[in-house]
Formats: sequence, structure tokens, C-alpha cells
Amino acid sequence: MNLATENALTPINSDLIPQRTLASGARIPAIGLGTFGSDHVSAAEVAEAVKVAAAVGYRHFDCASVYGNEREIGAALEAIMKSGIKREELWITSKLWNDKHGEDDVIASCRQSLADLGLEYLDLYLVHWPFPNFHPPGCDVSSRSPDAKPYIHENYMKTWRKMEELVDMGLVRHIGTSNMTIPKLQMVLRDARIKPAVNEMELHPHFQQPEFFQFVVENGIQPVGYCPIGSPGRPERDRTPEDTSPTQDPVILNIAKSHGIHPASVCIKWAVQRGQIPIPFSIHHYRANLESTVGDPLTDKEMRQIAAIDRNCRLIKGQVFLWKEDQSWEALWDMDGSITPP
Ligand SMILES: NC(=O)c1ccc[n+]([C@@H]2O[C@H](COP(=O)([O-])OP(=O)(O)OC[C@H]3O[C@@H](n4cnc5c(N)ncnc54)[C@H](OP(=O)(O)O)[C@@H]3O)[C@@H](O)[C@H]2O)c1
Repeated sequence: MNLATENALTPINSDLIPQRTLASGARIPAIGLGTFGSDHVSAAEVAEAVKVAAAVGYRHFDCASVYGNEREIGAALEAIMKSGIKREELWITSKLWNDKHGEDDVIASCRQSLADLGLEYLDLYLVHWPFPNFHPPGCDVSSRSPDAKPYIHENYMKTWRKMEELVDMGLVRHIGTSNMTIPKLQMVLRDARIKPAVNEMELHPHFQQPEFFQFVVENGIQPVGYCPIGSPGRPERDRTPEDTSPTQDPVILNIAKSHGIHPASVCIKWAVQRGQIPIPFSIHHYRANLESTVGDPLTDKEMRQIAAIDRNCRLIKGQVFLWKEDQSWEALWDMDGSITPP
């Protein structure tokens, strides 16, 4: 029996999966399936995982045009809905890619994702990165776009106005940000007519971003955590020698042992109990990840132990989005608390 078949045999009642309530009152499943194949998992494999994951109980899928698989996922969604799962039971996110920030491109790009996914509306549409800097898929870490720009708030707000228009048009139910920082988000909150419903950010036990996490929550924004288990399959370009792995941390290993579960499941439990929505990618272990959200919670002591192993280790540094040759990735993340000047 292959893993996909095994996964499918034992569904988890999706009514048992925890949910979160957004500022709008909408309910969103507290775990989603990531769909970025990290340049080595094919679109067909990801789409197959989406289809079987829905049969297993997933209702939330984190997509993006740049992942290059929305058409295949669209076919999977069609099959899912034909199987009897209603559109309104699903939560589908997509993202605007960096080369589509132009005022004439936002609505067209969203329409393209809708067409590829075979949907009439998205539950959530995110601005994938706050920079309009294009890089070709799979490019080297030293690659720079010749017309790369820093964060320019005025330009971001032009893009955001179009995101707001998408809500007015009924094409998307919520809009949100991704890969932001506190100072950038402060400006967006000041100027937005429709505030971001969620902020998608890297979050795992070795990168907990406590200050940013608190800021997001205090502003009524739901944190969605990417790379929740430390992205063991991430592309080579996203690896540096300093990177650490939460699933190899002795504290996580000990907790996993005492619960009789995989260290990845500990990361998922921690994420859900802390209050972020993890979106683990998986084509093999998605059932185990979903099951991690149901029952057998971590104790308060275990939660405190995990809070103490934060290493401030950002894995997705975003080097390809830098706008100057001699810059270090820290410039993208406003490390001193103010927006890095051009
Ligand atoms: N907004 C953004 O800019 C942004 C950036 C990065 C990622 N994302 C989103 O976040 C999602 C998740 O991030 P990610 O894929 O980088 O990292 P991740 O979810 O932390 O790690 C995925 C990897 O972990 C393995 N895995 C998953 N569950 C496992 C388990 N229970 N036991 C053992 N191995 C397990 C998967 O292998 P198998 O496939 O073999 O199970 C896969 O190789 C992406 O797919 C994407 O949707 C968004």
C-alpha cells in the first residue's frame, strides 16, 4: 500500500479540526496544507496531495501563483467538490506575485489565479512579498533583479488599494500581508481602508518572532505560520550554514518521545496552541500533521519549554529580493525597527 492510499483510509472528522475566528467573524481552519513544492515536488504530486488531504479532512489550502501549480490544484479542487465537499466548507488562499504589483496587474493576476483554481472567489488573497522584485523561479541566491526596489510605502498602498477593490468586487473575501515587519505593517494599518485579515510569516520553534507575533495579534490580525516544521525540504538557495532545525532540537525530541509522536507533530501542536495557523507542506505526512491538531495537547510546561528554545533563526531570508549588490539579507527585515532606507 502506498502512503497516499494509507493516508486516505483513515479520515479525520473535519468538524474536530480547531478553527480560528478572524476580525470579520469568518472562521478559518487552524491548520492548512502548504502547496509550495520547493522546486522538487511536481505540480501533479502536490495536486494529488491536495485531493487526498481533503478526503482525510483538510479544508484549508495555502496556494500562490508563483508555486506554478494552481491549474493542477484547480483540477484537484474540482474533484474535491464533486466528491460532495461544498465550496463554502473550503478555505482557499492565493497570493499576488512580486511582478504583479502594478495597478493594472493586481485584478488581472487575481482573476488568473481564480481561473486556474476554478473558483469564483478566494477566501484570502495575500501580497506575497512587500517588494515588486521579480526573480525567475529556481534562480541562484546571488541573483538580483536589475530593477529591484526597496519597500516604498506609497507604491505598496497603490497595490493595496487594488487588493481592497478585489474585496469590493466580491472576488476575494479577505486580503492580507506576507513577509512584512512591524514598521511596514504599522504604515499599512494607518493607511488601509480594509485592514489585513492575516499576516503570513515564518514561524517555528527556532523562529518564534515574539514581538512581531504579539504586534500582529494585538492589531486583530491572524498570524499564519509558514515553514512550521523548519522546512526540511526547502531549496538549496534557501540554506545557509547557520541554519538550525527545530525537529532536531533536544527539547522537541524529548517532548515527541514522551507523547509517542514525530517531532514535526510537536511543532504543529505548539503552533496551533500558541495561536498561529501552521500551513505545513507535505505529500507524505499530511494526515499525521492534521491529526496533531486533534487531542493530546502539549502541557503548559511543554509550551514554556518550547518558548525557551527560540534561536531567532530565520530560514527564508529572501536574498533574491535585495535591491543593492552589496546588501545583506537583514536589510529586508528592518532589523533596527525602522524601514530600511533606499
Ligand atoms: N508566504 C511566503 O512567502 C511563504 C514562504 C514559504 C512557505 N510558504 C508556505 O508555507 C508552506 C510550508 O512551508 P515549507 O514547505 O517551506 O516548510 P514546512 O512545512 O516546515 O516543511 C515541509 C517539509 O517537511 C516535511 N514534513 C511535513 N510534515 C512532516 C512530518 N509530519 N514528518 C516528517 N516530515 C514532514 C515534508 O515532507 P513530505 O512532503 O515528505 O511529507 C516537506 O519536505 C509552503 O508550502 C507554502 O505554502 C509561504
